[in-house]
Amino acid sequence: MNIIERMKLDGKKALVTGAGQGLGKAFALALAEAGADVAIADINIENAIKVSEEIIALGRKSIPIKADIKLREDSIQMVDRVISNWGRLDIAVNNAGVSKLQDALEVTQEDWDWTFDVNLRGTFFCAQAEAKAMIPKGYGKIINIASICGYRVWPQFQSVYSVSKAGIIHLTKCLAVEWIKHGIRVNSISPGVTMTEGFVKEVLPIFTYKAPIAKAASVEDLKGALIYLASETSDFMVGQDIVIDGSYINV
Ligand SMILES: NC(=O)c1ccc[n+]([C@@H]2O[C@H](COP(=O)([O-])OP(=O)(O)OC[C@H]3O[C@@H](n4cnc5c(N)ncnc54)[C@H](O)[C@@H]3O)[C@@H](O)[C@H]2O)c1
Repeated sequence: MNIIERMKLDGKKALVTGAGQGLGKAFALALAEAGADVAIADINIENAIKVSEEIIALGRKSIPIKADIKLREDSIQMVDRVISNWGRLDIAVNNAGVSKLQDALEVTQEDWDWTFDVNLRGTFFCAQAEAKAMIPKGYGKIINIASICGYRVWPQFQSVYSVSKAGIIHLTKCLAVEWIKHGIRVNSISPGVTMTEGFVKEVLPIFTYKAPIAKAASVEDLKGALIYLASETSDFMVGQDIVIDGSYINV
């Protein structure tokens, strides 16, 4: 089949967490542009509703879902909503994440728990609920969003965030190895600094100074990899992390 045809996601049912703004919103719109119906999960339901409306305007189906992914019961009800509306889940993007610049000497237990509960535990339990929904079909795509901070230490202080993202890269490999027997492909994307509503402004000059490409990414720079990982063209890719960073981590 023609390669462009194989990238199409017509009729697929997708779910994106943290899709009310930023990268998650861009990923959700990209999936809809490629033909999928997309559920928009976010802790901020007002934003989720707005993104859902944009997807419906593209001619696809969409449901907004209020979910705090640090609560396991929320990740379960989020997937249940997709199944009760559409009968199946083909593609899940675990994008919701939080970050805070903070000297390690000042990190409290609450700071640590907040970052890890959202970024790592949240990603794990979302993936678990998604995989359970995909197993009956014997096929599915789970795409976790990690970061270049999972590879390199920044001069600014963000130890807790960085370790949580390193955890996502390794978690992706662990889940991929366990779940490929069910036909579920788990992979991840590690973006470099990307201009979104929520990006930490202080990291921009350091990124643009060091990255050979000498500029930050736009959300448009990340959509192609997401559609590749969501489509059947990546079916032989299992447990990999795609770094999109203008070569920041190579120098
Ligand atoms: N922007 C960057 O430079 C960059 C670089 C590398 C990795 N990332 C990662 O990409 C992802 C998206 O980043 P972004 O810049 O678009 O962030 P953002 O802050 O603009 O958007 C994050 C979205 O997640 C939602 N969210 C936060 N906590 C949640 C929770 N507990 N449950 C459900 N939803 C929740 C927010 O409401 C928001 O809509 C994050 O995982 C981030 O770590 C971003």
